[in-house]
Amino acid sequence: MTEPHVKIFDTTLRDGEQAPGFSMSTDGKLVIARALRDLNVDIIEAGFAAASPGDARAVRAVAEEIDGPTICSLARLNEKDIDAAALAVAPAKNRRVHTFIGTSPTHRDAKLKMSRSEILERISHLVAYARSAVEDVEFSPEDAIRTERDYLVEAVTAAIEAGATTINIPDTVGYTTPEEMTDLFKFLIDSVSHISGAENVTFSVHCHDDLGMAVANSLAAVRGGARQIECAINGIGERAGNCSMEEAVMALTTRKDYFGVRTQIQTPKIYPASVALSRVTHNPIPRNKAIVGKNAFAHEAGIHQHGVLADKRTYEIMDAEAVGMPSNSIVLGKHSGKHALAARIRSLGFDITDQRVGDLFPDFKKLADTAREVTDADLVALVTGNSEHDGRQGPWRVRRVELRADVDDDTRPFARITLKHDEQEERQTVISEGEGPIDAAFAAVCAITGVPGRIAVLDLHHVADEGIVRAEAVIEVGEDRYTGTAREVDVADAAVAAFVAAINLAAGVEAQRRAVA
Ligand code: KIV
Ligand code: ZN
Repeated sequence: MTEPHVKIFDTTLRDGEQAPGFSMSTDGKLVIARALRDLNVDIIEAGFAAASPGDARAVRAVAEEIDGPTICSLARLNEKDIDAAALAVAPAKNRRVHTFIGTSPTHRDAKLKMSRSEILERISHLVAYARSAVEDVEFSPEDAIRTERDYLVEAVTAAIEAGATTINIPDTVGYTTPEEMTDLFKFLIDSVSHISGAENVTFSVHCHDDLGMAVANSLAAVRGGARQIECAINGIGERAGNCSMEEAVMALTTRKDYFGVRTQIQTPKIYPASVALSRVTHNPIPRNKAIVGKNAFAHEAGIHQHGVLADKRTYEIMDAEAVGMPSNSIVLGKHSGKHALAARIRSLGFDITDQRVGDLFPDFKKLADTAREVTDADLVALVTGNSEHDGRQGPWRVRRVELRADVDDDTRPFARITLKHDEQEERQTVISEGEGPIDAAFAAVCAITGVPGRIAVLDLHHVADEGIVRAEAVIEVGEDRYTGTAREVDVADAAVAAFVAAINLAAGVEAQRRAVA
């Protein structure tokens, strides 16, 4: 018997994009829409077409390009919004209009200034209107959680009778609890089961994270009969955000034994989607974020590392690979033990005995005491006896960084970078363009060094006490990731120096691999 299917309705491009600091250009939205297609989400809420001409264009661009998922636009419950939504999603093979109106006493009295019966009348009339434009209509009674239960049943009944194919129950203000949510879904589904056609309606949940319970409440709704979860990549959305897509999906996947349902998500595409969102919106993924944070599959404590090296299941309930994360779970630091040190040195291609690891261990501990994380470059230096590590180790040194961003509309930002190779007399200078001056600087570094590094993470911290900027750059070269750090007075110098440190590391590890091959 196959488990019931829970649809994943992704609202990264609508509720997520609506949140301060997360707005996206149409090009950025298309990058995310492609990532959502690769994830195989069921529905993409691509925007709110009536909100602005730019929003309408972006929804249409997604509808024109993205094949597979249903493309949806949000609309208030009025003809103008519904027309704009239907027009924007028209190019999609599978299209949906999602229309909503507030139903709680606060929304009725303070915002809409409408009576209960006026709202019911509007639902009947306009859901039917939306159905005349598209086959697939979702209706949301906004602030459903704070709506009187008897009235919520009336509103949902009116929507189903008018032809809604999905009924979405939003916890607009993130107020409810898991127990209440399960109970509400059981109650609602039971209360409308007598309506003709109700058996074909999908019940959906849409939670906000104001009290940190969006994922738990969404999962609780599934326990109560919901078969669609509305969620967003990295949990972005209004205020504290929406239910996090990756957390909800991995909870349903990892605890299939408990929830007894399945999604159609390609879970190895989760991390690439999360990174894409982080890049497009310039918001880093928090280090301790569940599923996709840098620490989610990382172990530094010696006892944990020993356990994980013996059998990953001792401290991991999911595989990093299952969510598409590079499996680099052993972070070497001052809490690490000899097992982890030996494993990492051997993974770098060194055929090293346990005796030699024991000899190197005191130096490793000294190094770990002074560094946040011991990198592969540190280890190469330690094993080869060149352990003078200053964060700029490697053949390339930065000699000059010049950035230009104050350019007119026809000129892209550019950077002029000068590097010096330890074994070459001449300095090398390259001018490159980029999305911004730092991006241009990274392109110039890659052009000079010949290492095709792509920036994955760039962390910059101003240390006020010391008057310096500490930078950490994580780059991807093929399948591998390398971290470089730097400390400089100027923020641009720090970013470029950290990037060069990571490039140096990549070049050093590559040379080491060639030497042992
Ligand atoms: O939070 C909310 O109520 C919404 C609706 C428009 C579904 O985002
Ligand atoms: Zn919302």
